[in-house]
Amino acid sequence: MTLRRLPRDFADSLSPSGRQALEGNKHRLTAETPLAWIAGAIGREKAAAMEVLLEKTMAPHLSPLSDAIPPESIAGQTRNYQERLKKVARLRTAYLERRGKAWAEAERIGLFAMMRAPSFRQFAEAVAGRPLDQKLGVQVLRYAPGDYQGPHTDHHPEDPRAKDGYIDVHLSLPSAAVADQFLVYARDGHLSEMVNVAAPGGIAVYRLPFWHYTTPLRAKRGQAAVARRWVILGTFLYAR
Ligand SMILES: [Fe+2]
Repeated sequence: MTLRRLPRDFADSLSPSGRQALEGNKHRLTAETPLAWIAGAIGREKAAAMEVLLEKTMAPHLSPLSDAIPPESIAGQTRNYQERLKKVARLRTAYLERRGKAWAEAERIGLFAMMRAPSFRQFAEAVAGRPLDQKLGVQVLRYAPGDYQGPHTDHHPEDPRAKDGYIDVHLSLPSAAVADQFLVYARDGHLSEMVNVAAPGGIAVYRLPFWHYTTPLRAKRGQAAVARRWVILGTFLYAR
């Protein structure tokens, strides 16, 4: 299967398990269960074709996003057990907020059309279990071998519309060369839960904020050059 643009209707990308989630029968987020991982929500072949399309069209428009561990987090530490880690990460992202080259290419391949399809919001609402705002934020990320995100909460207490939480939907599109990449998240105050987000075509729905991190992407033996995971990310505020 080759795609020249992304499915116009998000629902057309879904497998039977993805359809079940869309119909609202399967997954429901709560304070105790802040993450739903819908394995294989996008059909395997379609997910692979979407990944290839993103690599061909969006890879030249990515910018590095790198925040390393500050050396003074150790050198400047004066008391035992008082270490602090800011959000650290390494990955690449396409800047889609401004109408630049990345935006134009995303528009051309139908990324915004797919994300703004009524079925995408319906999917998010079915899993979130509550109505969501009409508008959404769209991001594209790409993890190469060794790329990761350190522990963080995605809490935005300074933003009045987001301070009481919001919903993120991540479409996970790994290449076949990825061995694994895990999303680790907190339950009952411990970072004890883990899913392999490198399983093809999975969709993760987050009821933010909560503590989570993404482990370094690992390639299959000898395939580092072609190992990568694309993530198409939609962010929804709750409806007013
Ligand atoms: Fe996050």
